[in-house]
Amino acid sequence: MNTPPLTSARVTPEDLTRFCLEAMRLSGLNTEDARLTAEVLVTTDTLGTFTHGTRQLRGLLKNVRSGRIRADAHETVTAQGPAWALVDAHDAMPTAVAYRSMELAMHKAKTSGISFVGVKQSSHYGAAGFYANLAARQDMFGLSMCNVDPCMAVPGAKGRVLGTNPIAYAAPAGTEKPLFLDIATSAVAATKIYTAKTLGHPIPDTWLIDEEGVPTRDYSQFPEKTVQVPMAGHKGYGLAVLVEILTAVLTGAGILSEVSSWVLDLPTPTNEGHAFIAIDIGQIMPIGHFKTRMDQMIQEIKSAPLAKDAQRIYLPGEIELERQEQALANGILLPPDVVASLRGTAEDVGLDAEQLFTH
Ligand SMILES: NC(=O)c1ccc[n+]([C@@H]2O[C@H](COP(=O)([O-])OP(=O)(O)OC[C@H]3O[C@@H](n4cnc5c(N)ncnc54)[C@H](O)[C@@H]3O)[C@@H](O)[C@H]2O)c1
Repeated sequence: MNTPPLTSARVTPEDLTRFCLEAMRLSGLNTEDARLTAEVLVTTDTLGTFTHGTRQLRGLLKNVRSGRIRADAHETVTAQGPAWALVDAHDAMPTAVAYRSMELAMHKAKTSGISFVGVKQSSHYGAAGFYANLAARQDMFGLSMCNVDPCMAVPGAKGRVLGTNPIAYAAPAGTEKPLFLDIATSAVAATKIYTAKTLGHPIPDTWLIDEEGVPTRDYSQFPEKTVQVPMAGHKGYGLAVLVEILTAVLTGAGILSEVSSWVLDLPTPTNEGHAFIAIDIGQIMPIGHFKTRMDQMIQEIKSAPLAKDAQRIYLPGEIELERQEQALANGILLPPDVVASLRGTAEDVGLDAEQLFTH
């Protein structure tokens, strides 16, 4: 069979959603899990975070076929108080579990002001920022994080110790755009290295170290032999440990090496943990007052004098929200690796990908 050349493609969010829903239906997922997952992944693509949007569907469905993600499972609340809950995901579709768990945190925050929901026995939930933004959309402050199988060294070590443990926060603003930061605690998310590998793009020597712990630009041995490093040295390391405490130590999920890669073909469940925190701002300060103060902060940051050759200052999340405006107006321009991944998804589940790309 001829492999189509690597090209980008423009699709509407609606067509992309329909494609994802059909691929998940053919894979045996129920309507609600498929709907929530499609919203997580397609929204992430509209923000231009293509490493963690619909590109992830192929891997998620491969896990469904192998039984590592259980299409027939549903999470349960195993313990709770007025301002917290612990959830066992039972290996159900992780994006849907995470979506509902953030909603549970927001629901509890409505009565208690602030709440924590921790999830164990889960898998890959995609972009941390999606769930934090759910809270900001309802005038809450949201925090979202998850632990990942070890693929990152720590200062002084040469092998894998910690995952790339992403963390995201989001907050509403008034006349300004809401603000959110969504980052891996590694120098970059692993998917950026896989993408560079797929496209043959060079990477800097600040993303990986070799077997001796020496910085390298060679991704040919990633992930087998080369290892990621934390962002900003000991600072990223310390933040990744914070994520491990809240998502794993406190929830009962796998700790460090007890988590298995969701990407590799392994027989064991992934056992990742997630943590969601919601703060109902209006109970602490009138929401209008908070938003005015957010605008004040944003405007002061934006009016800082520009560095030589700089064009403008962005707030965290602003780049993505501008991309989203474009995507909603003109369609999402999917990069070649995402198109290739969606074609692969279609082939895996018996769908015609050209229906999506020739619309
Ligand atoms: N689920 C997982 O296993 C997992 C693991 C790691 C990462 N991830 C996801 O990977 C994605 C990418 O992570 P990353 O670390 O490569 O992100 P990144 O380095 O691209 O940083 C993105 C964040 O930085 C902000 N930002 C970028 N440039 C800016 C600027 N000039 N001024 C102000 N803010 C700016 C963006 O608005 C965004 O919030 C995230 O969505 C993350 O959640 C997921």
